[in-house]
Amino acid sequence: MAINIQAIRGMHDLLPDRIGLWQRLEDETRRVLESYGYSEIRTPLVEVTDLFKRSIGEVTDIVEKEMYSFPDSNGDSLSLRPEGTASCVRAAIEHGLLDQPRRLWYRGPMYRHERPQKGRYRQFHQIGVEVFGLEGPDIDQEVLFLTQRIWRTLGLEGLRLEVNSLGEAEERSAYRVELVAYLEAHHAHLDDDSRRRLLTNPLRVLDAKNPELREVIAGAPVLLDHLGEASRRHFEAFCAGLDDAGIPYQINPRLVRGLDYYNRTVFEWITDDLGAQGTVCAGGRYDGLVAQLGGRPTAAVGFAMGLERLVALLENGKANGLPSPPPLDAYLVAVGAAAQAAAPGLAELLRDAIPDLRLQCHCGGGSFKSQFKKADRSGARFALVLGEEELKRGILGVKPLRGDGEQRDLSHEELESFLLAARQDGP
Ligand code: HAM
Repeated sequence: MAINIQAIRGMHDLLPDRIGLWQRLEDETRRVLESYGYSEIRTPLVEVTDLFKRSIGEVTDIVEKEMYSFPDSNGDSLSLRPEGTASCVRAAIEHGLLDQPRRLWYRGPMYRHERPQKGRYRQFHQIGVEVFGLEGPDIDQEVLFLTQRIWRTLGLEGLRLEVNSLGEAEERSAYRVELVAYLEAHHAHLDDDSRRRLLTNPLRVLDAKNPELREVIAGAPVLLDHLGEASRRHFEAFCAGLDDAGIPYQINPRLVRGLDYYNRTVFEWITDDLGAQGTVCAGGRYDGLVAQLGGRPTAAVGFAMGLERLVALLENGKANGLPSPPPLDAYLVAVGAAAQAAAPGLAELLRDAIPDLRLQCHCGGGSFKSQFKKADRSGARFALVLGEEELKRGILGVKPLRGDGEQRDLSHEELESFLLAARQDGP
C-alpha cells in the first residue's frame, strides 16, 4: 500500500492562499532596505559545520543541539545554516568585500532542530542585515531606524524594543567571575540547565526561561555596571540617538542573546501578541567575528527578523499599511476546438502588445458556463470571450466581471486600447 509522504515536522509548505502576504512583506521590506543603500547577498544553504561552531559558539543551544549536520561523501561535516550572519562573514572575507564599508541584506530559510511550537519552526525564514566596517554608534542607530521604518511600512504597531550592551570580551570576563561567584552562592536554587550553563556559558543563565529562577536572576550582578569607558560611551551615544529619534526602548540588563559572537550593542524587538515566541527581530554588534574567522579586524553590526512571526502578526490584523496585490486584468475564455487552439497564441500577442498585462488564459476546455465561473473566481476585471464566431470575425467579446456592464465585441486593436485605458483608470 502506498504511504503518503508528508512534510517534515516543523517545516511548512507556503500555499498559494497565504503567499500574497509573504510576497508583500518581502517586497516592502526590500524596498526599505534598498532605500537605505543596502545590497542583497545570497549565500548557500549549506556550509561546513565548523563555520557555525566557530562563530555562533560551541557552547550554545544552536550548535550543541539544534543543527542539521551530516557528513558529505568525502567525510566533511556539513550543516544546514541555522542563521545568516556566519555565512555573510565567510562570504565577505572570501570575496574581499571588506576593503570598504558594506551594507548587506539577505533573505531565506534557516534550519534549527528546535521543539516546534507556535512561532518556532525547524525551517523558518529570516530577512537580515549585516553592516561591515563601521564602528560608531551612528550605524547601530541606523539599523534600528531601519527596523522601525520597516514596521511603519508594514503598519505593524505595538512592538517593544529592548536594548543592552555586552561590552568587550575583557569586560565580560571580569563580569563573568563576579556572576559565577553569585550563581555558585545560589547553586541550590538553580535548575539543571542553569547548573550546566554555569560551568559552560554562565551569561546564558541570565536568559533562563524558568520562572522559578526569576528571583535569583533579578539579584545577579549587572554587566552594564562593568563596562569600560569606551563601551559605556558607545552605549550612551546609541541610546541618546534613539531618544532624539523618539524611539521608545527599555534597557534590559539581562538581554544576553543566544549566540556568542556579540559585543557591545544588542537589541530585540518583541511583541506580546504571539505568546512565548515574541521576539520578531534581534541583533547587535559583533566586532570580533570577522577576525575570528580569519579576516582583517572589521567592526560589524546586524539583525535578523523572523518572517513567520511577522506574517502571524500581519494575519492577526496588526497591519494596516500593506498594499493588496493587483488583480488579474483579464481571463481569456475559449470555447470550441478551434478557439481553444487559437487562445494561447492570441494571449501571447496581447501580452506582447501590453506591457505587464495580467492575463490568464483558460486551459482544459469546458462549457461557457464553467469557464465563466472560473473567470469570475480568478478575480479578473474582465472576461475575454473567444468562440467560433469571434474567431471567424477576428474579434473578442469583453465582459466586465466586477459590477455591471454589457458584453461588447472589439477587434484585437480595439481590445489593446481598451485594456490599456482600463489599466490607467485602475481597478
Ligand atoms: P536569532 O535571535 O537567533 O538571531 O534569530 C533572529 C530572529 O529569527 C528571531 O528573533 C526570530 O524572529 C527568528 N527565529 C529564530 N529562530 C526561529 C525559529 N526556530 N522559528 C521561527 N523563527 C525563528 C540571529 O539569527 C542572528 N543571526 C541575528 C543577527 C544578524 N545578529 C547580527 N546580525
